[in-house]
Amino acid sequence: MMVCTVVVDGFFGDGGKGKIVSYLAVADDVSVCARGGVGPNAGHTVVREGVTYKLRMVPCGFVNPETRLLIGAGVVADPEVVLKEVNELDIGNRFGIDPQCAIIEPRHIEADRKGHLKEKIGTTGTGTGPCNADRALRVVKVARDIPELKDYITDVPAELNEALDAEANVLLEGTQGTYISLYHGTYPYVTSNDVCASAICSDVGLGPTRVDEVALVFKAFVTRVGAGYLAGEISMEEAKQRGWDEYGTVTGRQRRAAPFNFDLAKRAVLLNGATQIALTKLDILYPECKGAADYKELSSEATGFVEKIEEELDLPVPLIGTGPGVKEIIDRR
Ligand code: IMP
Ligand code: MG
Repeated sequence: MMVCTVVVDGFFGDGGKGKIVSYLAVADDVSVCARGGVGPNAGHTVVREGVTYKLRMVPCGFVNPETRLLIGAGVVADPEVVLKEVNELDIGNRFGIDPQCAIIEPRHIEADRKGHLKEKIGTTGTGTGPCNADRALRVVKVARDIPELKDYITDVPAELNEALDAEANVLLEGTQGTYISLYHGTYPYVTSNDVCASAICSDVGLGPTRVDEVALVFKAFVTRVGAGYLAGEISMEEAKQRGWDEYGTVTGRQRRAAPFNFDLAKRAVLLNGATQIALTKLDILYPECKGAADYKELSSEATGFVEKIEEELDLPVPLIGTGPGVKEIIDRR
């Protein structure tokens, strides 16, 4: 059966979307994987056959060699980062970018690395916010203006709609997380665009009636980088002791940490219209679960946690991450 699935993060980002998207691209034989979300402020980690890939622009679905990889118009693109990733992954023959992606220029990056964006908000300094500001002012360049991108320009909405008409599986990859959404997050400590499920559809040019599943990714604990309130925050030392110390993919900053938050999770379910939950890093809470690929291998503490999430959120948890590798996952579908 063909399915169009949107994957988004239910907390502050860094929940492991990269791992979930890369797994689904292979497991579900996805023919098109399109990225929405903000821009190269995102950092998605994919571990395949012992090799770690850190992607900022290209969709994580690249691990399936048959999958077409697209970037939607809502995304702001740094051409240097795009071309570097396309070349390093050798995906030039199956990569496309919308002609209306806004283009990050050096002046955007400069503006993002000083003043209140750096000092107050703690942005990633990748130029995404200033680029989106210029886009709203209608003074920004777009992808069709960049000669180096010429070979990759494609009609992303048309490709996606055609794939669905042909009964293919389509995956829409979100970035960042619900609570750093410009509209629904902890304003002003947010990113420069909406990043909830409907925004991701809008970014790539798919209407809401075409989506079947919204997979909401929750990490087994909560992390946040940059400024802004984090309920239940523990100290950096305590985070280290629990093995919850993580470092930003893009900036290298240690992430702030807190336990799984059911109130935030419930609200994220409604903001995104979630139909299912993907739970990641269960092995960090329950090390005995590391690498498990079958639900029966989980300890009773771990299954208790999964069941509590299913009960409280009234949604199934079909996907459970038990390690960083693409194959370290339990798929109960
Ligand atoms: P900006 O998106 O670079 O403008 O940063 C705004 C806020 O969003 C900062 O707190 C960043 O740390 C945070 N942020 C942006 N992108 C990501 C992401 O992909 N993961 C986690 N936090 C992010
Ligand atoms: Mg990240």
